[in-house]
Amino acid sequence: MRQHIRFYVGDTLHHLSDLPPDLTLLDWLREQQGRTGTKEGCNEGDCGACTVLVGRLEQGRVVWCAVNACIQLVWMLDGAQLLTVEDLRGANGQLHPVQQAMVDEHGSQCGFCTPGFVMSMVALSTQVDLAALEGTLDEERIINEALAGNLCRCTGYAPIVRAMKKAATYCASNGEPIRARMQEFITRLHHLQDGATVELRSPAGRVTLPASTDALAAAYAQDPAAVMVAGGTDVGLWITKRLRQLPHIIAVRSVQELHQIETRPDGALWIGAAVTYTQAMPFLVSHLPAAADALRRIGSTQVRNAATVCGNIGNGSPIGDGPPIFIAAGAELHLRCAQERRVIPLEAFFLAYGKQDIRPGEFIEGVCIPPQAPGSVWGVYKVSKRFDQDISAVLGAFRLVMAEDGTIQEACLAYGGMAGIPCRAKKAEAALLGQKRTQATLRAAQAAVKEDFTPLSDMRASAWYRTTVAANLLARLFDPDARHAPSGAPTLQNWQELAHG
Ligand SMILES: Cc1cc2nc3c(=O)[nH]c(=O)nc-3n(C[C@H](O)[C@H](O)[C@H](O)COP(=O)(O)OP(=O)(O)OC[C@H]3O[C@@H](n4cnc5c(N)ncnc54)[C@H](O)[C@@H]3O)c2cc1C
Ligand code: FES
Ligand code: FES
Repeated sequence: MRQHIRFYVGDTLHHLSDLPPDLTLLDWLREQQGRTGTKEGCNEGDCGACTVLVGRLEQGRVVWCAVNACIQLVWMLDGAQLLTVEDLRGANGQLHPVQQAMVDEHGSQCGFCTPGFVMSMVALSTQVDLAALEGTLDEERIINEALAGNLCRCTGYAPIVRAMKKAATYCASNGEPIRARMQEFITRLHHLQDGATVELRSPAGRVTLPASTDALAAAYAQDPAAVMVAGGTDVGLWITKRLRQLPHIIAVRSVQELHQIETRPDGALWIGAAVTYTQAMPFLVSHLPAAADALRRIGSTQVRNAATVCGNIGNGSPIGDGPPIFIAAGAELHLRCAQERRVIPLEAFFLAYGKQDIRPGEFIEGVCIPPQAPGSVWGVYKVSKRFDQDISAVLGAFRLVMAEDGTIQEACLAYGGMAGIPCRAKKAEAALLGQKRTQATLRAAQAAVKEDFTPLSDMRASAWYRTTVAANLLARLFDPDARHAPSGAPTLQNWQELAHG
């Protein structure tokens, strides 16, 4: 057992032992390391001002991810390489191609957001060969893959997008300095991987980073009052916004076995508890293609780089985007308490608002999504105020299985945002079963879905809006042209008909 963590910041190796469990990476960088280039804006993962770059060894290579330092905890860095904006300048002071392009394209006015933007853009430059993309890097890709998690209040985004394109040109001429050091980073990180369980103790509490699922199960069985933390994109906010103290944290992502993601011989998709949305995305998109647009809109690149699929389930939120999608797909949840394991349908996990079917000391090992029947008809629609980086007001995930004669023989209509838990619209499902996909069937299902739920009014949407949208999303499912459109917005015609009829 190791009693300290070790990681690189720039070229300096840090060993830390006396570490409060809830110390955020942002506070550590700014207050203890004097790295004030990383800014604090919202302190809740929304603005991107605190974006830093974390490199981890994955299958023999270093994978770089932009993350929000304000909701990362310092112990999460064990075994990693951190780069902040201070690390970008070359040995003789030259700017990184992204920085040079930001200067040349006037991508900064007050400058507060700039280090965060630069780090997000550098993250993209480490992940793809920018030089090879010179002249073809389009705006949509730049926004989706680099900028959606960063806010700027004064420059405007056009010069920043232009700077990203120009950075590709600079990389084509001079190379990308972080990619150029890949072998050096691999070697240094390789020396940090010893496969040991880590236990950190300080007067403020302790953190356990188990090296195996058995070690995790034993630690949690011994102290069921401990808080499990995977990506920390929910738990981070308990610390920064609710000022909660967490005397014992048990980490999920230190367990290599829980990083497993695979398509099994029977076609089922297994996602271990430590797998992030970024890692799961290619598998999920190929397994559930209709969910691609909604999944891509979970948080931002920085959030998806840290957030796990199973944390999205474990938090029990009624407005999490993953759970309704996985319920519609018939997913099963794998739970473990000490040596005992059980498997339940995902929908049975959510009992009531804030209450899940999970016992003290029990945790999620993974989620399994079965293969989808050929001929299934899917629709997944996320409705939120902003396209990116916004929690859903309503999310509808629908799966129909059609018989050969065109009748609906199976219907699963799962919603988020309509009740205290993600759940199915059972009356609307009953209205569909055995029917053909006609306007009359649609009207019956729309009437039934209004009886299924009594949603709340809150800052995201009124109860009337939620009920109306829930019914309108069924119209999208029935409209073969609209079914795969990317936006979750209902059509104006449906809106007017339902509002007046
Ligand atoms: C800026 C921002 C934007 C966001 N946008 C979205 C969005 O668009 N859609 C959306 O759905 N969510 C969104 N979220 C919420 C969050 O990112 C997701 O819920 C995420 O998937 C949580 O995963 P995590 O690994 O970070 O969980 P953590 O914060 O580590 O944990 C969340 C909860 O799950 C528990 N937990 C974690 N792992 C396990 C386990 N293996 N077994 C049992 N319990 C466990 C923890 O104890 C905790 O209660 C957003 C969050 C932020 C900060
Ligand atoms: S300070 Fe806004 S995302 Fe971290
Ligand atoms: S330059 Fe001022 S907030 Fe972006």
